[in-house]
Amino acid sequence: MFNTMPNGIQSTMKRLEEIDRRDRLDGTPRLQRLRQIPPETGRFLAILAANAPDGECIEIGTSAGYSALWLALACRATGRRLTTFEVLEEKVYMAKETFREAGVEDVVTLIHGDARHFLRDYARVAFCFLDAEKEAYSECYELVVPNMVSGAILAADNVISHQADLACVVRGAAADGRVDSVVAPIGKGVLICRKA
Ligand SMILES: C[S@@+](CC[C@H](N)C(=O)[O-])C[C@H]1O[C@@H](n2cnc3c(N)ncnc32)[C@H](O)[C@@H]1O
Repeated sequence: MFNTMPNGIQSTMKRLEEIDRRDRLDGTPRLQRLRQIPPETGRFLAILAANAPDGECIEIGTSAGYSALWLALACRATGRRLTTFEVLEEKVYMAKETFREAGVEDVVTLIHGDARHFLRDYARVAFCFLDAEKEAYSECYELVVPNMVSGAILAADNVISHQADLACVVRGAAADGRVDSVVAPIGKGVLICRKA
């Protein structure tokens, strides 16, 4: 399914992968960089999202929309929509262009703002990808987990690349009776939590 993606999505992904690669080499300031997931993480998330139970599919931290394209593939394959949150205006502008170019506007809703102000409104979460500033992880986790349906997945990126910053989130999930969790050593390290 993800091996034969539409040309528009594939070419847009390639364009973003090239910008991200260049950003990391040329000293682009951190907040301007796309800081997106590598392709193997995208494929991993799409496979997980395609197997999530019925409910809402959300993403916290859109940047230019690269990971959202992978999730949009899963949503399209399973007849759902993705809602993705981005706080920075310039990234929202880039993500809009990404979704238009890739032809996924029919399955993606982009919300401009701090996700923490909106998450209480999502009461039946089936899949959540958390990829925001690390200081926001604990708060986002606590806002999302109570609203996850049984069998829902929360995936949080960077738990190996930012091990020190996110150790409390990983430890908290391991001790949380509401979820089963494991760290998958894919890309920058993805914490997977499944609602019991
Ligand atoms: C690591 S980047 C996301 C990369 C993206 N998921 C991808 O792989 O293509 C983090 C993004 O989250 C945004 N962000 C950080 N905190 C946020 C919050 N509380 N709500 C919404 N967006 C946030 C940042 O502005 C930044 O664009």
